[in-house]
Amino acid sequence: MATVLAIETSCDETGAAIVKNRNVCSNVVASQIAVHRPYGGVVPEVASRQHLETLNPLIDRALEEAGLGWPNIDAIAATCAPGLVGALLVGLTAAKSLAIVHNKPFLGVHHLEGHIYASYLSEPDLHPPFLCLLVSGGHTSLIRVLDCGQYETLGRTRDDAAGEAFDKVARLLNLGYPGGPVIDRLAKDGDPQAFPLPEGRISLPGGGFHPYDSSFSGLKTAVLRLVDKLNQNGAELPLADLAASFQDTVARGLTKRAIACARDCGLDTIAVGGGVAANSRLRHLLQEAAAEHNLRVLFPPMKYCTDNAAMIACAAAEHFDRRHVSPLTLGAHSRMAIGDVMELY
Ligand code: KG4
Ligand code: ZN
Repeated sequence: MATVLAIETSCDETGAAIVKNRNVCSNVVASQIAVHRPYGGVVPEVASRQHLETLNPLIDRALEEAGLGWPNIDAIAATCAPGLVGALLVGLTAAKSLAIVHNKPFLGVHHLEGHIYASYLSEPDLHPPFLCLLVSGGHTSLIRVLDCGQYETLGRTRDDAAGEAFDKVARLLNLGYPGGPVIDRLAKDGDPQAFPLPEGRISLPGGGFHPYDSSFSGLKTAVLRLVDKLNQNGAELPLADLAASFQDTVARGLTKRAIACARDCGLDTIAVGGGVAANSRLRHLLQEAAAEHNLRVLFPPMKYCTDNAAMIACAAAEHFDRRHVSPLTLGAHSRMAIGDVMELY
């Protein structure tokens, strides 16, 4: 199997990594969270500038930590979609330039395919078909993994992503950015049943609900209304109870839809990915429900759940082994369906 060096710059983490045979030789990440925190969210222009400043030393470190030089690298890859276009362009241009200079093949990688491949890094014996529950700041998807490059999106969010909902609710509770870890921490001392909140299901025209799609904007508005009402009473906000009730509602909904999807499709494994995979309530409820239904649930280590270049290198290595390479004319795309990944090769 190939040794691939990959670059990830789709959002607010700059990453460089080298992967061989689903084994991580090096994986370095420079987080921009502290830079964006004063703004309460990611500022695209600031993200691009940060990637530009951080990337070259990070690539050197990835080579150094792996103890490898350019002659050992078989191919160079970078995330090219979806994401912030300015941010993606930094990594993509660097990867293409390195490919030209060192005369190596180049591969563009779909960011969500990277999140799927994160599961292979900790479970090298994992084989498709399986279901991937991808829950991050930008995505909430249920993806049926059929083979390398063959994916079917069965569930998605109709508005906010799960992580985005955590970030927005944290902002309205004045808890800071990013919201997920703070809400998770606060919720440990709260009662998940303190406030009943709407689960955010999608109604179908003929009646009933969409089994796999999510919606979080109604839930966010419900928390906003509740906070307004509580503020009118003048009492101190019960932050722990609010955090626990909100978190439980999100985790219960995601668990229910993931289990239903896996069972309906006859898939016995659910691999979870994205930053929200860190959520303790989601981990607990999903593991409990999976055991009840005889399903296997995989939570990769956090360093592979949040954005990183090792997962991108792993996906690229698999494509490269199938002789897939990308043209140097490949551009960055802010949006691209995972079902269209083969257009990159
Ligand atoms: O995968 P990721 O690092 O970046 C994206 O590709 O979006 O995910 C970041 C998201 C943020 O919205 C953050 O609030 C959320 O993951 N997150 C969490 C937790 N840790 C991070 N959400 C809930 N509970 C957590 N413990
Ligand atoms: Zn991501």
